[in-house]
Amino acid sequence: MPQSTTAIREFHRTWGPATLLHTLPGRIYLKDESQRFGLNAYKILGASWALSQLKLPPGTVVATATSGNHGRGVAHACRRLGLECVVYIAAGANPVRMRRIEREGARIVHVNGNYDASVAACMADAAAHGWTLVQDLAKGDYQQIPELIIEGYSTLFAEAEEQLPEPPETVVVHMGAGNFAAAGLRHWIGRARIIVAKPAPEAVLPDCLILDEPSEGLLDSGVDQWVDITDDDVRHAVQYLADHGIAAGPSGAGGVAGMLKLGIQGPALAVITEGPVVD
Ligand SMILES: Cc1ncc(COP(=O)(O)O)c(C=O)c1O
Repeated sequence: MPQSTTAIREFHRTWGPATLLHTLPGRIYLKDESQRFGLNAYKILGASWALSQLKLPPGTVVATATSGNHGRGVAHACRRLGLECVVYIAAGANPVRMRRIEREGARIVHVNGNYDASVAACMADAAAHGWTLVQDLAKGDYQQIPELIIEGYSTLFAEAEEQLPEPPETVVVHMGAGNFAAAGLRHWIGRARIIVAKPAPEAVLPDCLILDEPSEGLLDSGVDQWVDITDDDVRHAVQYLADHGIAAGPSGAGGVAGMLKLGIQGPALAVITEGPVVD
């Protein structure tokens, strides 16, 4: 049974403090996840909630595939919960992201090919070895864990709502697999115009947003507008944030990129989902 947003927030209070909400000129509000539980990205919210609900015995092996942040979140949550963790990552992925996962004590498996190939390899090995797969990708009958991950993300929107000085007219969320955008959609639907920013087919910079196949069915209805973001849009957004004293990584600036591209007027909310990706 889905748990209430309040219960999920209470759970996350035991993991760490709320993150900041910045106010920029023009009533632009930016929820900044770059400091979330000291991990540089919001993803730990999903991993921690999902793993806590699964109630796995200590020593259970948990497997996941990642472009970076989700794997780090799962590895960190496993370490805190006394679980073993194996993380599959495409060989060409950002080495800073890989090192950050390793530092959480996870075993890394490098997969030749792209992110989708790493997911396929992880699923096959998890099935063969009886590991628990904690993947942020809803497909076929693999729905329960992605659903828990989406529930976990609700904390950041609930916090933002409490911190906002006024209701937003527009909420811009960016997407890779679509779980984060789904959490935003569920929170704000009927109360704000929802815009989803997705990487343009030729984009490479927002490396954590690039997937062949997003989660199924999450954003089929309720999205008011879509916008494609290019590498130039992302660079522009990172620079715009830097000009306002905010440091963001490329995958973290997708919502702001969409907001700037469309010239959205406030009151509007976007989320900086990760800080800079540097050692
Ligand atoms: C920093 C960052 N922002 C946004 C996203 C997109 O989240 P989702 O894959 O749930 O759409 C990701 C996914 O990895 C991410 O790492």
